[in-house]
Formats: sequence, structure tokens, C-alpha cells
Amino acid sequence: MLQGKVVVVTGAGNGIGRAIALVMAREQAAVVVNDIGAGLAGDGRDNTPGQQVVDEIRASGGQAVLSTDSVAEAAGAERIVQAAVDHFGRVDAVVNNAGILRDAIFHKLSVADWEAVIQVHLHGSFYMSRAAARFFKEQQSGALVHMTSTSGLIGNLGQANYSAAKLGIVALSKSIALDMARFNVRSNCISPFAWSRMTSSVPTDTPEKAARVERNKQMTPEKIAPVAVYLASDASQGVNAQVFAVRNNEIVLMSQPRPLRSVHRGEGWTPQTVAEHAMPALRASFVGVERSSDVFSWDPI
Ligand SMILES: NC(=O)c1ccc[n+]([C@@H]2O[C@H](COP(=O)([O-])OP(=O)(O)OC[C@H]3O[C@@H](n4cnc5c(N)ncnc54)[C@H](O)[C@@H]3O)[C@@H](O)[C@H]2O)c1
Repeated sequence: MLQGKVVVVTGAGNGIGRAIALVMAREQAAVVVNDIGAGLAGDGRDNTPGQQVVDEIRASGGQAVLSTDSVAEAAGAERIVQAAVDHFGRVDAVVNNAGILRDAIFHKLSVADWEAVIQVHLHGSFYMSRAAARFFKEQQSGALVHMTSTSGLIGNLGQANYSAAKLGIVALSKSIALDMARFNVRSNCISPFAWSRMTSSVPTDTPEKAARVERNKQMTPEKIAPVAVYLASDASQGVNAQVFAVRNNEIVLMSQPRPLRSVHRGEGWTPQTVAEHAMPALRASFVGVERSSDVFSWDPI
């Protein structure tokens, strides 16, 4: 599906990014495999994971090149996109997948952990998209695929930094979709569920939790790749500004905020009438203080 296309996949040394890069190459794309080889919290550097993916793609006859710049620096993102143009002559799609985690319960969340997570996920996705945008405009085509999360779309404990970044990415994607549709550019989000080092820290201290982890292991990163490849390909013309959750063998179109219910008083509101009239009327439609697992409450199928 990607013959003649050049794609950049960030964070492609591990997990979901790695699986996406391999399937992109299998579908005939030339791939820039970008990864700094960081630990889960973003510390350290290691070229090995990215190089292994490049080697694997080349060993099966595909085209790939390694990029070890960080998406978290604007100049780094420029170099990542430039690598596609320098090595393969163009850039057709960018998958913003690189990510880190620094979980902490809100009152203990440090400024450093807030900033680091926002920097890699939200700023990194902006830097990468911005770097690709000028090429996309010039060639009047392009596709962006961003990884969001149900931690942001729905909610999760101890992830204020990550959730804020991931929901910010949805707004970024929507804004790009609006601004760049005139240049035939599409921008969509995937909200993946996958067993990776990012999710494998779930405790298994009871038989129930251990059984749940075993079921979750079915959700391999490879299950996410077909949707990412499709969204990067010309087959997805007309698919723009959407959010797809991908969970084992399910693909879910996620809703986006819309007015749910409204109350109106011709004479306007006082704090008292808000309390006595508006809230009781709206309460029936309140969204619960829910976590991702409350909403995606069924086992992966
Ligand atoms: N695994 C899941 O269930 C899940 C759920 C929701 C969202 N996501 C999102 O999917 C994406 C991939 O997650 P994963 O589970 O495969 O994680 P992972 O930790 O296995 O892989 C992330 C990769 O990103 C790289 N990286 C980190 N900082 C970077 C930077 N500044 N520049 C370039 N590369 C960098 C890391 O070195 C790592 O190889 C992330 O954006 C994550 O937030 C994952």
C-alpha cells in the first residue's frame, strides 16, 4: 500500500513504533527509523534498538535509515524529517509515536516530570508536524498519524502530565487537519492499547491480576500497525481529523466533544438559579469521574 512512499516513524526502536516501522517497510515504504533509545522515563541514549529495526528491514529487502535525533528538540525534529528527504528524496507521512512516562499522583507531580512529558509528546509532535508541513505544502500531499491515549481521552490515575499531553495532541491533530486540508494533508490520531514496556509494569500480585495481564499480552504492538499503515497511505483519502482506538482485534471510532444537553433562561442566570435549575437539569448527562478501564471495561477481543 505504500509503494514509492517515504515515511518517518518516531520512537521506532521499541514497541508500537517498531511494529509500525516493520509493517510500513513490508508495504514497500522507505522508512526513517527514529529513536534515541531512551529508558521509559526518557533517560539515557542507545542507538541499538533503532539500528536493530533498520537491520531487520534491510534483511528482508526493505529500505530504512536510522535517525537518532530527539523529537523533543525543534532542531532535532527538523533533522529527522530532513533525513527522509536526504536519503529518499521526499517525505509522505510522519507517525508521531515517540513517548515517555513519568507517572506521579497529582500533588506529588514535579515540575520537571510535567515538563519532560509535555516536551516529548506534545511539543515533539508539534515540532515533527511543523517540520514536515513545509514539504507537505510544497508537494500538495501528506499524512500525519499521532499516538494519543485513553489516559487523555477518558482519564487515568497518576498521569496528569501524560493525559494533558495526549489530549493536547488530539487538538493539535484537529488543528492541522483544519489548516492543511487545503494542501491535501490528512491528520489523524490512534489511541493504541498494546502490551509494551510502557504497560508491562502492571502488578501481578493476585491470580486475578495475573490472569488479566495474560489476556492483555494478546494486545501486541503488531495489532496497531495496520491502522497506522492505512492512515499513512493514499487509501485513507477523505479520512481526516479522526481518532481511532485500536485494541487487540477491535478498531473503535472515538467520539469528539459535542454539546450534550443545554439549559436556557431568557432572563439570564443567577448563582442561585444555576444551583436550582441548571445543575439538576444537566446532572443527568454528567460524565463520571472515570478511568480508561471503566469505559473500556471488557476484555480485549
Ligand atoms: N502501549 C500502550 O498501550 C499505549 C497506550 C496509549 C498510548 N501509547 C502511545 O504509543 C506510543 C508508543 O508507545 P510504546 O508502548 O510502544 O512505548 P515504548 O516505550 O515501547 O517506545 C517508545 C519509544 O520512544 C522512544 N523515545 C522516547 N523519547 C524519544 C525522543 N525524545 N525522541 C525519539 N524517540 C524517543 C523510546 O526510546 C522508545 O523506543 C507512545 O506515544 C505512547 O504514549 C501506548
